[in-house]
Amino acid sequence: MGKKVLVVGQGGREHALVWKLALSPEIDKIYAAPGNPGIAELAECVEIGVDEVYKLARFAEEKGIDLTVVGPEAPLMAGIVDIFSEKGLLIFGPASEAARLEGSKVFTKNLLEKYGIPTAAYKTFADADEALNFARKFTEKGQKVVIKADGLAAGKGVVVAESLEEASEAIENIMRKKTLGEAGNQVVIEEFLSGEEVSVFALSDGKDFVVLAAAQDHKQVFDGDKGPNTGGMGAYINPPLYDEVLAEKVKDRIIAPVIEAMRKEGVPYTGVLYAGLMVEDGDPKVLEFNVRFGDPEAQVILPMIKGDIFPLFFKIAEGTLGDFKVEMEEGSCVCVVLASGGYPGSYEKGKTITGIDKLNPDTMIFHAGTALKEGKLVTNGGRVLNVVCRGKDIKESVDKVYKEVEKISFEGMHYRRDIGYKALLREGLN
Ligand code: AMP
Ligand code: GLY
Repeated sequence: MGKKVLVVGQGGREHALVWKLALSPEIDKIYAAPGNPGIAELAECVEIGVDEVYKLARFAEEKGIDLTVVGPEAPLMAGIVDIFSEKGLLIFGPASEAARLEGSKVFTKNLLEKYGIPTAAYKTFADADEALNFARKFTEKGQKVVIKADGLAAGKGVVVAESLEEASEAIENIMRKKTLGEAGNQVVIEEFLSGEEVSVFALSDGKDFVVLAAAQDHKQVFDGDKGPNTGGMGAYINPPLYDEVLAEKVKDRIIAPVIEAMRKEGVPYTGVLYAGLMVEDGDPKVLEFNVRFGDPEAQVILPMIKGDIFPLFFKIAEGTLGDFKVEMEEGSCVCVVLASGGYPGSYEKGKTITGIDKLNPDTMIFHAGTALKEGKLVTNGGRVLNVVCRGKDIKESVDKVYKEVEKISFEGMHYRRDIGYKALLREGLN
């Protein structure tokens, strides 16, 4: 009998997950909670929020769901995997204890140190004065220093301080004024790493793992990496920086030892391991881990996985990955995010979106902040749409995607015009 799958989430990442799962011949029904209008073309959307973990479990039980796939981190931290597992429901993602790899920077840094996994030199503090004294050791030498709130802070928990004053302000805000709430009870103070960032995505069943691919995100809102940080304005797969030599180092020095460390600690890691790395002189160091696919990185990785993804996700959830092999498509894939005017600050919603019907048939469009109003597609969030194109190389996919982007419009729409520029520079193509 065909399988039933539930996807939890409502962004571009979850649309890409649903799109990829919908290609599986093994699946005959996909539900999404809560989903979005793009997802609704492929799945039945149900009005349950991502944080309503008990409701989601009841829904999965009632519908006889064979596998639940969780997109965002919040339900993972809230223990969705623990609750589903107690009920004997199969679910793809880490249990809440293992999700601390994203949820607690103190936990992660201590784990990395204990197992000798490369990361920036650091100390952790629960006392603001002691934290500042340690930060001073860096600024005295004219070095930058990085202050990180321990807990989840929606991208606002990391401050790169250029001076003691900046470090002091960050520590004051995080630890005394508690601008990030409980997330600021402890901080990590660490050395500043220079180099180029890359994100590597692996899947593990707790014991074995597969590395899918690397991608590069574009966090700042404006071209040339200027302006405030966003959730991500675009991404591309296979950054040239991530060659075979680096891939081997990442696997041997980071991914394999972390999976092994988590197992030894009694918190086996299952699901997506997203390693945020800094690479300098060919050597990778861990900046952070996330316990889910990146958004928009998922939108360029999922379309490049060869074949049916359902058996892979199923084996990961079941703990039977073994030596299962995953192959990736040749070539390149690029995603450009179309955002609302004002994003990442405040923005208006409800702007009519036009032009999607004019896209080439091989262009993928993944919805994020959209809604249907009187039968018309309108904006409903900061990041609105993801336009994704494949090509034989980065240049071809970038050229394609920008031609497609021009066909779409809504009032206030803005996007970065330089997605993939680092790769093009490296390859001498821009
Ligand atoms: P994180 O959430 O720890 O990945 O930090 C967010 C961003 O801050 C990273 O993507 C980097 O751009 C920057 N960052 C974090 N830690 C460091 C570090 N030790 N050195 C330089 N940049 C860092
Ligand atoms: N694109 C960055 C993230 O998903 O965290």
